[in-house]
Amino acid sequence: MKEPDFEALRREFPLLSHKTYLNSGSYAALANGVQAAFGAYLADRLSVGADWDLWVDKNESVRALTAALLHASAVEIAVTASVSAGVNALASALDFSGPRNKVVVSDFEFPTIAQIWHAQERRGARVEHVHRGADGHIPLEHFAAAIDETTRLVAVTQVCYTNGARLDIPGIVRLAHARGAWVLLDCYQAAGSLAVDVKALDVDFAAGGMAKYLLGTAGIGFLYVRGSLIPSLIPANSGWFAQADIGAMDISANRPAPTARRFEAGTPAVVNCYAAEAGLKILLAVGLPAIERRNYALSRRCMELLRDIGWPSITPLQDECRGATVAIPSRDSGALCAELKHRGIVTSHRESKVRASFHFYNDAADVESLIGALRELRPRFMV
Ligand SMILES: Cc1ncc(COP(=O)(O)O)c(C=O)c1O
Repeated sequence: MKEPDFEALRREFPLLSHKTYLNSGSYAALANGVQAAFGAYLADRLSVGADWDLWVDKNESVRALTAALLHASAVEIAVTASVSAGVNALASALDFSGPRNKVVVSDFEFPTIAQIWHAQERRGARVEHVHRGADGHIPLEHFAAAIDETTRLVAVTQVCYTNGARLDIPGIVRLAHARGAWVLLDCYQAAGSLAVDVKALDVDFAAGGMAKYLLGTAGIGFLYVRGSLIPSLIPANSGWFAQADIGAMDISANRPAPTARRFEAGTPAVVNCYAAEAGLKILLAVGLPAIERRNYALSRRCMELLRDIGWPSITPLQDECRGATVAIPSRDSGALCAELKHRGIVTSHRESKVRASFHFYNDAADVESLIGALRELRPRFMV
């Protein structure tokens, strides 16, 4: 199999010439193409002023590229301001007044997901948490015990933001659908780093954003809604960009778009559309299967070397059980992250772990730099 020229691609990210950047699970390195897109926005403002035709096209281009990324149709994609905005719009369309009012969330969720469902408690929702087992992972049986005939929605992350572990999404979807519940996938830590196919996964909803592995910027995201569910879901969180005819300026009624655009709200973040479009084009040109292979290889090598220096990660070793983040336990993850930063190695820390997240623009030398630094810092920081 002929792989993309990753060394040439790496040169499109100037930051990598002077930093070991292992922080794509937080915010991607800036690509020349994305920088140029920000520049193009400013140039358009200076030359044309307000170019709404072009800006609407940019938003539609982000929608189409996101659909291609997820193997969905463009009418199933809402371009949102964040994961939180998309999930709030979805929550506002769900009815919790009847007996099917339970929302199941896992211990692996990013806070915003659990918080939004807890916020629905005043609308009648009951939130049940699926806890980890003794080994720190969440077995399917724990989901089987929580999902029942009263479950409206199961909200799960694909890849956990703290430990890099992947949940058994096909297994969870089977359980949920067998009991008449829908599944919302938070794929923010997966989209762009792994090949994500919402149709193959058979999820009902999926949310993510463009700041991390999608190479864009904060302030723009997406919500996928299975096409057949759109007509029955009418968000109470709405706005003029969610209407069937945005230009109608009709103040007499709420007439939601027939597509997933009904989950949008106000004026799109135009500059973010430029950046997101550029990032998505880069990723799709490189190809998600090749990116996934590269991320698995780099993160696997990192975990093997961590084991060799006697400081194993807590991320599962098998490719099918993890994403592109390697979580390294530490007795002081904040101070360890700061020490690494001091050595030009950019990571992030969550709870008692330092996260090293790999993307296709990283290479074997980045892994070596991290391991070299950790070997030296091990006596002070290993748990
Ligand atoms: C898995 C996951 N979900 C959701 C979020 C938050 O998304 P947003 O700030 O776009 O609402 C993050 C951010 O780090 C995340 O890692």
